[in-house]
Amino acid sequence: MFKTVATLDETTTLPIVFGIGEQETHKQVQTFLGTVTLDTTYKEIAVLPTYGKYSFEKIYVCGLGARKKLTTQTLRQLFGKLAQMMKQDFSIQLTDFVTESITLGEVAAIFSETVVIARYEFKKHGVFTPKYETLSVQVISPENIQFDLANGEVIGTAINHARTLANEPGNKMTPRILAKYAKGLAEKYDMEYHVLKTGELEQIGADALLAVNRGSDEPPRMIVLKYQGLDTWENPTALVGKGLTFDAGGYSLKISGSMQGMKYDMTGGANVLGAMEAIAGLGLKANVLAVIPATENLINGKAVKVDDVIGSLAGKTIEVNNTDAEGRLILADGIEYARQLGAKRIIDMATLTGACVVALGSSFTGAFSNDDAFYDEFAQAAKITAEKVWRLPVDETYTEQVKSSSVADLINSPSREGGASIAAAFLQEFAQDTAWIHLDIAGTGDVKSGSDLGPSGATGVMIRTLTQLFS
Ligand code: BES
Ligand code: MN
Ligand code: ZN
Repeated sequence: MFKTVATLDETTTLPIVFGIGEQETHKQVQTFLGTVTLDTTYKEIAVLPTYGKYSFEKIYVCGLGARKKLTTQTLRQLFGKLAQMMKQDFSIQLTDFVTESITLGEVAAIFSETVVIARYEFKKHGVFTPKYETLSVQVISPENIQFDLANGEVIGTAINHARTLANEPGNKMTPRILAKYAKGLAEKYDMEYHVLKTGELEQIGADALLAVNRGSDEPPRMIVLKYQGLDTWENPTALVGKGLTFDAGGYSLKISGSMQGMKYDMTGGANVLGAMEAIAGLGLKANVLAVIPATENLINGKAVKVDDVIGSLAGKTIEVNNTDAEGRLILADGIEYARQLGAKRIIDMATLTGACVVALGSSFTGAFSNDDAFYDEFAQAAKITAEKVWRLPVDETYTEQVKSSSVADLINSPSREGGASIAAAFLQEFAQDTAWIHLDIAGTGDVKSGSDLGPSGATGVMIRTLTQLFS
């Protein structure tokens, strides 16, 4: 959908998009339209008719504001606004958007990725053809940037696929359907695939995942993908995603208002699959494992009850004083399984706590880690992709609380105070000495209102950053 031409084709019938910064003049616009006063305010997009003088009917001029102040984030928003505005194929001069700190290659990758994600639409379940595919863009660039354009498109497409998985309602995205999708992805990109069903989960003793699943008629799944980008299978990093396809809360039942939107409780798992698709699609030189424990959290006569004591894959016993704190239970087994598969580093991603949403809102992802060097590497990647993350504490204050059970090794919900850190401390007990980062995407995984980067609903958050981490 992105085609490059070296110079502006004056016989084109496509509208042409230019960019202009504050106090700058634009030679081509002047040639075509004479001396016009242009609004160079950031994100103002002027549509200028050519009144039949040229083969193209319209010129779009994007205001950049002060060029020096442009960041990858504000450039993304500008491209997003433009992409949502365009109703037809167009031609764009990408050199107009280069700054002292953003190269043409970077502009190109950001552009293609943003066009793909900003125009995303979720219509009906099962529809994996977002409308951007109907639009083709001619990119004017003196340098060959086809590679960067293609890379951006791969990442944008992976983000959209993950969004669709999460936007599907709970009855159309069960653990089995999620596993089937993952299998298709593995086949497409030639990744190793393994799914653990009830029998195998019982055999290995994934009792925490099984306990959460007990209240559901839908069987659980532990989905595993292996992407080998290096010559030998060494030092894999595991991405562990919460695949809770619907969270009613179990016997600690959610009130109806809080239950709405709980189809998004598998967004961590969906975004792990999105990251795997991007990593494999780009052929990155890294070894990456994906582990996604998947189940519903419902109620029936067999469901886990409040005050039950359950086991876990790691052998630790857990007092369940709140069945709605189920994410940490299934992740406990997911993290342990990743360790058993040889993960040297683990990043888990989950819509884990309402407390994180209260603390950070819907634009910052909460992050926790037991390893500063690993965290710094991750934070650097997030900076490049302009995804907002904020590190929150996880230390002995919280660990003491999760270890305070009088009947088990751990308790899943000792207190509401510092809820996001308590949940992280619980997970940390399973990461143990493995370098680990926990991402709480409860606020950022889906959003209530649309933006320049797409509509309301699932966002595909952290797919860019996780992909960047391995680039
Ligand atoms: N899936 C929820 C967390 C959540 C809340 C995600 C709001 C998105 C928006 C999680 O399983 C949950 O229910 N957490 C409880 C934990 C509590 C019982 C300690 C919560 O946050 O209330
Ligand atoms: Mn819950
Ligand atoms: Zn949940």
